[in-house]
Amino acid sequence: GIVDRFQEEGLNIFGPNQAAAEIESSKAYSKNLMKKYDIPTAFFSTFVDYDEAVNWVKEVKPPLVIKADGLAAGKGVIICHTEEEALNILDDIMNSKIFGDSGNCVVIEEFLEGEEVSFIDFTDGENVIPLESSQDHKALLDGDEGPNTGGMGAYSPAPVLTPELHDIIMNKVMIPTVKAMKEEGREYKGILYAGLMIKESDIKVLEFNCRFGDPEAQPLLMRMRSDIVPLMKTISSGGVAEGEIQWYDEASVCVVMASKGYPGDYKKGFPIHRIDEVNSMDGVFVFHSGTARDDGNIVANGGRVLGVTALGNTIPDAMNAAYKAVGHIDNELLYYRTDIGKKALKYI
Ligand code: AMP
Ligand code: GLY
Repeated sequence: GIVDRFQEEGLNIFGPNQAAAEIESSKAYSKNLMKKYDIPTAFFSTFVDYDEAVNWVKEVKPPLVIKADGLAAGKGVIICHTEEEALNILDDIMNSKIFGDSGNCVVIEEFLEGEEVSFIDFTDGENVIPLESSQDHKALLDGDEGPNTGGMGAYSPAPVLTPELHDIIMNKVMIPTVKAMKEEGREYKGILYAGLMIKESDIKVLEFNCRFGDPEAQPLLMRMRSDIVPLMKTISSGGVAEGEIQWYDEASVCVVMASKGYPGDYKKGFPIHRIDEVNSMDGVFVFHSGTARDDGNIVANGGRVLGVTALGNTIPDAMNAAYKAVGHIDNELLYYRTDIGKKALKYI
């Protein structure tokens, strides 16, 4: 809604308005949009009635995925391996309202196997300018084990995304979605992010976000040679977004350092040292997430605290540089995955 407020005041702002942002803020809205416009996504149904949802779960076989319709701080998607688990989750979301009103409606969908990729573009409502590929690591623990988080690390480019897949995604997902939004009277301007599941040449949309991914933005911005600001200005002032974004050939890896306990309870307020020292390392940059200043110190102030990001000639080089930097900052109250980027190695 902030875009609408700025526009009311005649101020420039980059991003989708509230109606267009519903593509992220309501999973039922985005799933129904995809169904209407034949944009590939998992088979699904939406429910506002608890008993109907229960009946559907009993009809279709697990594994299945239950999603609260509204925003839930990255916690509203639950993969259910058994019917019992699914029924318990439905009760939690629809009756006990563990996600509040975000759970008034749920999406239940088939479980998809494959590899996840993030595809991000800039759009002025008509033209679509893709960014380079990137891949997030949603699970908390090495080897993609443990609970889902907002993202524990990312790298770019993602070699799973071949030029052929890039074209399929542009033609079957990104361009049709921007067109569909326009047709729905909700012209979409800004950054459109598709979270995709890829299995060989089969692609399906898991979700849309109306923003850069976090942490995908960190390696993408390190690799971006073009200045991003003129493009944002053009789109925000209603001009036509044209051309391509130029990139550095190097690879980039971002390792998220989180406060231990995240995504559950975690500590805040402890100091983090040596960030300046790490920022002076060649090709390394520390992005701040949950930090604050306290008496001249940088202290932890959130679950995901830092995104330590490095460039390298290859993904293994960037991994080495990022982990060397992480080693300098490491302390006993911070946790990070030790395998960010490893997924890419099987392709190179
Ligand atoms: P979403 O917010 O809808 O992207 O869901 C969060 C995460 O849950 C995704 O990044 C996937 O790891 C997982 N997920 C969501 N939907 C599915 C699905 N249909 N099949 C398998 N995993 C899924
Ligand atoms: N990393 C995924 C997201 O920003 O939603």
